[in-house]
Amino acid sequence: MVYKSQRIANWYFTIALLLFVLQVIMGLWLISNYVFTIPQSIVDVFPFATARAMHTNLLVLWMLLGFMGGTYYIVPEETGSEIWSPGLAWFQLVALVATGVVALVGFAFGWIQGRPLLEIPRPLDIVVVIGALVFLFNVGMTMFLARRWTAIQGTLLGGLVFLALLYLFGIPFYSNEVIDWYYWWWVIHLWVEGAWELVTGAIMAFVLMRLTGVDRQVVEKWLYIEVGLFLFTGIAGTGHHYYWIGAPTYWLWVGGIFSALEPLPILLMVIDTMNHVRHRKTQIVNPHTWTIAVGCAVLHLIGAGIWGFAHTLPQINYYTHGSQVTVSHGHLAFFGAYALLNLMVFYYAMPRLKGIEIYKPTRAKLGFWTMCSAMMLMGLTFGIAGVLQSYLERVLGMGYMTAQSYMWLWMAVTLVLGVFFLAGVVITVFDLLFPKAAEL
Ligand code: HEM
Ligand code: HEM
Ligand SMILES: [Fe+2]
Repeated sequence: MVYKSQRIANWYFTIALLLFVLQVIMGLWLISNYVFTIPQSIVDVFPFATARAMHTNLLVLWMLLGFMGGTYYIVPEETGSEIWSPGLAWFQLVALVATGVVALVGFAFGWIQGRPLLEIPRPLDIVVVIGALVFLFNVGMTMFLARRWTAIQGTLLGGLVFLALLYLFGIPFYSNEVIDWYYWWWVIHLWVEGAWELVTGAIMAFVLMRLTGVDRQVVEKWLYIEVGLFLFTGIAGTGHHYYWIGAPTYWLWVGGIFSALEPLPILLMVIDTMNHVRHRKTQIVNPHTWTIAVGCAVLHLIGAGIWGFAHTLPQINYYTHGSQVTVSHGHLAFFGAYALLNLMVFYYAMPRLKGIEIYKPTRAKLGFWTMCSAMMLMGLTFGIAGVLQSYLERVLGMGYMTAQSYMWLWMAVTLVLGVFFLAGVVITVFDLLFPKAAEL
């Protein structure tokens, strides 16, 4: 670590990790609701929808804190300067975490807006917007004053500005449900298949360059191609959410064709990740961080690319829409693309921020492989439940609850796998919070 202000990143990472554990505990509660009959007295005070809102909002919050911390770690090294205002970085962290705590407590008491993943009520939205503006201003000023522009910085800032702008479309409420969902997808889809992909591209490029010593020009050339393709396919690909909400029928074509192309940039990311290691110039000092990078590229391709492609054509989505097939894809994609991206950055930065250049990878490996295997299997079990559900409900016309009884076994297996997943997460989080130096 060269820059003092990078230290703030450690706080972002630490809080993100604790929220990750909490998110997964909520996931276990959710799956228990599918497996056991929860007494009505509990359901009355803590309904499934409340727990689900906590699970998904915690997910968004920890990942955004991870991206912000990652940015505060990377920007000083890219610009060759300290962060413009560490004070603002602190202010923003406290504001966002306070919003998160108020939101979670508020959800428990029914203070909720109701649109999935963006459930936090309007007044809290305003705090989030202020936090985001402070963040962008701080990062922008650091880059502007340093005047050492790189493609990585540009893409990172571009992705973060795009991310913040999109959030604004989720704030107004339209009494016409079609229009309301239309803009809701601008946030959800254009985040994960647009803005977040740009942030991912930039962060991946930075870490790959640092790990392998491959020339900046090579890494940045790939970055340009990927970013261009992500935007080209991802923006029109939004149409894969407009098939059945009452939008014009041309979306069946636009959404189908463009979203079917979305796996391309993700595939490129896997190829260039592998290419970099083949042409590496230095020995990789922490090979486990490299393993996470490869794991991220591959699971990103499986979860988002392949699992996304599987139900993106309207002919298939007609049957699978909103079933456990969607849940299977949601888990594999978020975990593969964004949980592992964050964990890669944490493993790159956190030991170093604690003065450890080479960390002992034993616990890290155990945590990583447990999480990845459990999540891959959960993707399969959710997927099997989803295919059953699509067939029973949409082909045979069975009622929702009757179909559930046939899916029970697969939800029960998911619960068992979820316990293993939690174990992997706890090992990983513990290792990151208390890393050990390698014995040389
Ligand atoms: C890392 C990137 C991605 C993430 C994190 C992600 C995550 C999600 C999530 C959470 C949902 C459920 C939304 C909801 O209904 O509440 C969803 C839906 C969907 N995703 Fe993705 N996704 C990604 C990339 C992709 C890609 C590349 C494709 C296509 C190739 C795709 C195709 C779809 C489709 C078609 C749906 C709608 C499913 C339905 O009709 O129920 N996704 N995605
Ligand atoms: C022990 C681990 C976990 C379990 C058992 C679990 C379980 C669940 C359950 C039961 C749901 C509700 C599905 C429904 O509405 O029918 C859900 C939703 C969701 N979970 Fe998890 N979860 C876990 C971990 C995770 C992780 C690690 C991530 C992301 C990295 C994640 C992302 C999501 C998302 C995006 C949704 C919303 C899906 C959608 O809109 O279709 N979960 N989870
Ligand atoms: Fe999408």
